[in-house]
Amino acid sequence: MRYFCTDCSHIYDEAIGDPEMDFDAGVKIDELTEFYCPNCEASADMFQPIVEEVLYAEDPEYLSWAEREHIPHILHRDDKEVEFSIGQEVHVMWDDHRITTAVLYDEYGDVVEEHFFSVDEDPIHVFHIEDLDSFEIQASCNQHGVWSTGMIENT
Ligand SMILES: [Fe+2]
Repeated sequence: MRYFCTDCSHIYDEAIGDPEMDFDAGVKIDELTEFYCPNCEASADMFQPIVEEVLYAEDPEYLSWAEREHIPHILHRDDKEVEFSIGQEVHVMWDDHRITTAVLYDEYGDVVEEHFFSVDEDPIHVFHIEDLDSFEIQASCNQHGVWSTGMIENT
């Protein structure tokens, strides 16, 4: 989840953390006892969550350029695990433009597993799906938002 400071518009991205404040990637804003805005020093209660629209392939047969680079692409799967890359054309991992997170959801939309990618890691990962009837994988790009496979039946 990303939050913005209502005073100065600074963005805190939980998937990235804040190296200057010594907050590790994946640390939730609620878990930070002494959080304040690194930019303007406003208190934690000045931060509001950013509601991200989840993007799906408009036509799975003909992916646009952005869809080919962002929608999680299944490389291999059986009924126990699924290996995927972020994007058919694997997304770049630059400091200022990269994939930050991949999240596995069950058929009810609940989070099953979450993976935070570090900047020196390829955006390729394995999730365990053995207990799931259906699943969905969403990936976040720090520049281009949240992208989803859509619900996939685990057959
Ligand atoms: Fe991107």
